[in-house]
Amino acid sequence: MSEYKDTVLVSGGAGYIGTHTAVALIEAGYDVVIIDNFSNSEPTAIEGVEKIVGRKVTFEKVDTCDINALRGVFERHEFSTVIHFAAYKAVGESMHEPLKYYMNNLVSYMNILELMKEFRRPNVLFSSSATVYGDAETLPVTEQTPRQPATSPYGNTKQIAEDILRDCCRAYEGFHGIALRYFNPIGAHPSALIGELPRGVPNNLIPFITQTAAGIRECLSVFGNDYDTPDGTCLRDYIDVLDLAKAHVAAVNRMVDGKMKEKYEIFNVGTGTPVSVLELLNRFIKANGVDVPYKIVARREGDVPAVWADTTLANKELGWKAERDLDDTLRASWNWEKHVRGIK
Ligand code: UD1
Repeated sequence: MSEYKDTVLVSGGAGYIGTHTAVALIEAGYDVVIIDNFSNSEPTAIEGVEKIVGRKVTFEKVDTCDINALRGVFERHEFSTVIHFAAYKAVGESMHEPLKYYMNNLVSYMNILELMKEFRRPNVLFSSSATVYGDAETLPVTEQTPRQPATSPYGNTKQIAEDILRDCCRAYEGFHGIALRYFNPIGAHPSALIGELPRGVPNNLIPFITQTAAGIRECLSVFGNDYDTPDGTCLRDYIDVLDLAKAHVAAVNRMVDGKMKEKYEIFNVGTGTPVSVLELLNRFIKANGVDVPYKIVARREGDVPAVWADTTLANKELGWKAERDLDDTLRASWNWEKHVRGIK
């Protein structure tokens, strides 16, 4: 008998969430096969995973859009489950280059699904996003809160991918799917061996804050302080990437152990606590004792005023709950930035 509980194929496993999830899976007794084309990540990410878990991991440099290369992975490796992370994720870029997003995010995904079906591998875990809720009418959002029409091609790929998975689960015997809707993942592994590595100017709040603290950016722009929220800045649900990784393990356990109640299930993965941009910034400054110059500027197009999760379903069904303390998370983000920049 294998020494592992099972094997999980992790596409996009050199990325930010992929690396942390690979570590969490290995720590939970799974083996992993990681594939990535390094289009938005570096080989050092795999080395980071190996250092943390203290062993070599199976890695293949494969583009999931290349079905022949991907078929080889299925031929060479046995696994019951895939976690499909491989995708582009820059909202703004997707507005200017929609086809790049539809091609990459959907072709890679359908290749995975096609091969899961062909090779009779039963479980698909898909990385969805809170972006599917758009500007929700009621907060916090539950999984039943109606999705709003996507406002970007990126967001649309998430909605379409959820629907494709639902349809496949309905149609194909033995096919099971879970979509995890992530809120705003932040933080890094406490070892500072893996973390988020944005290329160019970061779009997301925390990488911009840490780069400003490191002196790479002059000043953080806070996008709007005239929203109808307690301090006028947007409210989000910031989830530590380690907690997020554990949610994947819980979802994989549920599939592998045959505990799913429906063939296709959706779970919100957040903390359930809304935090404003200014609150997050001030917590970061205080937790790390660093300075982050900022200015208030106009709202960013496409931002919703507030979104946070009702996590009741994930708490109950996955037996999972976000646990990390926000100050620890913010310290981990800063430690990672310092590690990347060689700051003592
Ligand atoms: C964004 C995407 C979302 C995606 C997620 C993960 C948009 C509209 N949404 O979420 O679809 O799933 O990233 O990649 O882009 N902020 C500033 N200054 C900055 C950066 C951000 O004030 O320099 C504010 C934003 O206005 C927002 C909050 O910080 O209120 C969080 O922004 P961000 O980290 O980009 O995440 P989202 O926009 O929530």
